Amino acid sequence: MIPDWEASICQELGPEWRHAGVRALRQTDSTNLRLKEAARAGEISAPYVLAADCQTAGRGRLGRSFLSPPGTGLYMSILFAPPLDADSGSITILAAVAVCRAIEEMTDLKPKIKWVNDLFVNGKKVCGILAERIGEGVIVGIGVNVKMPVGGFPPEAGAAGALEREMDRGKLAGRIARHFLDGTKNLSDPAILNAYRARMALMGREIRYTQNGQEKNALVLGVADDGGLMVETEEGPRTLRTGEVTLGSEGLAGRI
Ligand code: BTN
Repeated sequence: MIPDWEASICQELGPEWRHAGVRALRQTDSTNLRLKEAARAGEISAPYVLAADCQTAGRGRLGRSFLSPPGTGLYMSILFAPPLDADSGSITILAAVAVCRAIEEMTDLKPKIKWVNDLFVNGKKVCGILAERIGEGVIVGIGVNVKMPVGGFPPEAGAAGALEREMDRGKLAGRIARHFLDGTKNLSDPAILNAYRARMALMGREIRYTQNGQEKNALVLGVADDGGLMVETEEGPRTLRTGEVTLGSEGLAGRI
């Protein structure tokens, strides 16, 4: 356990979220997996915040792993019970906005969001988000690279980078959790989508995406109200709902 982190998280959550479960661990396999198993076993209930200094089996989107070495990052998951009509787009959008707000409040940095929910600073990915459904609940997992690991990121970490700012990671966890949980009270609040659009990195840019196994080019027009990415393609306008996009020939470095 990391008592300092737990105290910081509770302090940031404030009296309104006093009933939330909070735990911070030195090491775990995956905070998403831990919460999933604990919730399935009926050991915890929503809302619950689990943070860790290190993960031995951090999981990313599309079956990838997420590098989670000790002493450099923040790996956290939030279990919450969304309203029955909540769509997953609004949840991922809220998570990205919550992390941006926390980083903006605690540093001089202004992260950009690459659809759907990767956060970039100076062209490098500093945060990834993985939302998973569990019964009627949702677990939102957030990994933030605060410092560069000793020896740098391995090549398989792709465009990974770090915030490179001194900060109390427990406080960062608490700030993210509070912004996120506050937002869950009204997931259809247009202010959340506007905050997402204002930080969106791909507006007006040429991107590549894959559809039915085929790579296609498109121009980004904006973000639809349900979180889909509106693009202009050779076959006309389309709204992308899932998958991954990459910037066209320009690449990412120095652009977002
Ligand atoms: C991605 O970029 O593909 C998403 C990465 C999500 C990583 C976080 S770290 C905390 C939580 N636990 C996990 O195993 N994954 C998420």
